[in-house]
Amino acid sequence: MPEATQVNAMFGRIAERYDLANQLLSFGIDRVWRDRLVDEVEWRRPKSVVDLATGSGDVAFALSQALPDIVKIKALDFCEPMIDQAKSKQRQSEDTRIEFSVGDILSLPIEPAWADAITIAFGYRNLENRATGLSEMKRVLKPKTGHLYVLEFSQPHPVYRPFYYYYLKILLPNMASLITGDKAAYHYLSESIEAFPDRNGISLELRRAGFTNVEAIPLAFGSVALHIAKA
Ligand SMILES: C[S@@+](CC[C@H](N)C(=O)[O-])C[C@H]1O[C@@H](n2cnc3c(N)ncnc32)[C@H](O)[C@@H]1O
Repeated sequence: MPEATQVNAMFGRIAERYDLANQLLSFGIDRVWRDRLVDEVEWRRPKSVVDLATGSGDVAFALSQALPDIVKIKALDFCEPMIDQAKSKQRQSEDTRIEFSVGDILSLPIEPAWADAITIAFGYRNLENRATGLSEMKRVLKPKTGHLYVLEFSQPHPVYRPFYYYYLKILLPNMASLITGDKAAYHYLSESIEAFPDRNGISLELRRAGFTNVEAIPLAFGSVALHIAKA
């Protein structure tokens, strides 16, 4: 699993260009995946939501737009430059209810059983210790009723794998270096995706952490998955 200080420093380096790189390198599809995540959260009508590894805050902003005003939303990330980006976007919007803060998923600064829903988009793969992360998420979720939503890259169907990894390993780092000036960060992206378990592996991790009703929804030919589980 990746080393936390390196992950933090890497996101710090690309924070200012993160949104632009995301949109261009995913051809805008990242928005469709996030909308799917928000739809799943919305219909379960949570009253308190935490977006973990929020980065520049796109999931938190989408949640805020979709959920009624009464819903409390916290969003955190351990990379300060990323939270600065989120706060700067918040200042430019009408949205004041999201509480952005710097915090580590491996030691969440949130009281037990606070959240009806926890979301984490493209952050779970970056954790130095996924088991500790899941145990913290379970602690913060309301027992028996709280839901965890993990949106993450996955392993696509074998037919698509050669194209997928050609894009990830060859095209993406070169394109990304033009946008962010940081080729290494996008080599890390492809390496971390390749080393990451498939949907069954992540479902197993969730069950081992004590989550129930675990489901995994494949998106984009299986290259991305939305995992939903009950605390
Ligand atoms: C790929 S970005 C995802 C950002 C956002 N969720 C999105 O969908 O665009 C991954 C984020 O995870 C954060 N992260 C990684 N490990 C973390 C940890 N232990 N605690 C908090 N944030 C973490 C990084 O700082 C980074 O901002």
